[in-house]
Amino acid sequence: MPTLDITPSGQACGATVHGVDLRAIDVDTVAAIRSAWLTHKVLAFPGQDLSDDDLESFTLRFGPFGNDPFFAAIDGHPHVAAIMRTADETSSLFAENWHADWSFQEYPPDGTCLYSKVIPPTGGDTLYADQQAALAAMPDDLRGRLEGRTAIHSARGGYAPDGTYGDDDTAERSMRIRPSVDAYATQTHPFIRTHPETGAETLYSTIGYIIGIKGMADNEARPLIGELYAWQIREEFRYRHRWEPNMLVMWDNRCTLHRATGGYEGHDRLLHRTTIGYNASVRTT
Ligand code: SIN
Repeated sequence: MPTLDITPSGQACGATVHGVDLRAIDVDTVAAIRSAWLTHKVLAFPGQDLSDDDLESFTLRFGPFGNDPFFAAIDGHPHVAAIMRTADETSSLFAENWHADWSFQEYPPDGTCLYSKVIPPTGGDTLYADQQAALAAMPDDLRGRLEGRTAIHSARGGYAPDGTYGDDDTAERSMRIRPSVDAYATQTHPFIRTHPETGAETLYSTIGYIIGIKGMADNEARPLIGELYAWQIREEFRYRHRWEPNMLVMWDNRCTLHRATGGYEGHDRLLHRTTIGYNASVRTT
C-alpha cells in the first residue's frame, strides 16, 4: 500500500492529505485512503482540480452512490447536490444542526464527499464530532441508560411539509431542497453500534433525526436524547474544518456528526456533494 502524506488535525478527528491527485488513483491508493479514512474519520485533500465527473468517479471508488431523498441534483449529474448559499440570502442556514447524514434511512450512507468551489474569506467552517471518542469517554451512568436501547429516526423535523425546510421556508433559498410527506416515515437503529469496518463501538446520529426511543414514553425519552446530545457535541470530541477552494473532504458518516456554520454574510459559498452509500462488500461485522 502506498504511504500517504497525512497530517492529523490535532483535534479529536480529521486529517489533511497532501500529494495525491484524486483524479488518478490506483487500487492501492484507494486502499490507503480508505484505511486513513477509517483511522481519522474525516479526510481533507487540498489543491484538487475536480470536475463533477471526477467527483462522481472518486465517490464510486468507496461505495455505491447513496440515495439523497430531499435534494434535487445539479443538472446533468443525478448524484451531485449543490450545497450553496448566496451573498444576500436570508433563508436559514442549511445543515446548521448537528447530524449524521440520512440516519432515518434503513441503510444510511457510509460517508459523504464535499468538494469546495467557492469559499468565503471568513466563516463557513464545517464542524465534526467524533462519536467513537464520545462513546469511549461517556460516563457509565449515561451509557447504562442507552445500552440496548433503540432510537427512532425520522426526517420530519427538517424535510416534512411542516419541517424546517418545508412549506413555511418561504425565504428565497438557492439550494434545491425538496420537502415531502415521505419525511414522516420512521426507521430504527441502536444508539450504540459497532462500526461495520473497524469493529469499534460508536454512538450513532443525534437529536433532530432521532425523535424518540422505542418502548419509552416521550416525556422520558426527550430528556435522555437531550442529555445524550449535550455529551455528543462536547468540545473535546470536535474537529473544526476550515475550507479553502478546491478541497475535497470525505467523512465517515457511521461514526461522526457534523454541522455547517455561518459567519459569511455578504459572501457566496458553494460546494458540490456526493453520498457514499451503504457498501455491503466492505462490511466485516
Ligand atoms: C452538509 O451537511 O452537507 C453541509 C455542511 C456544510 O455546508 O458545511
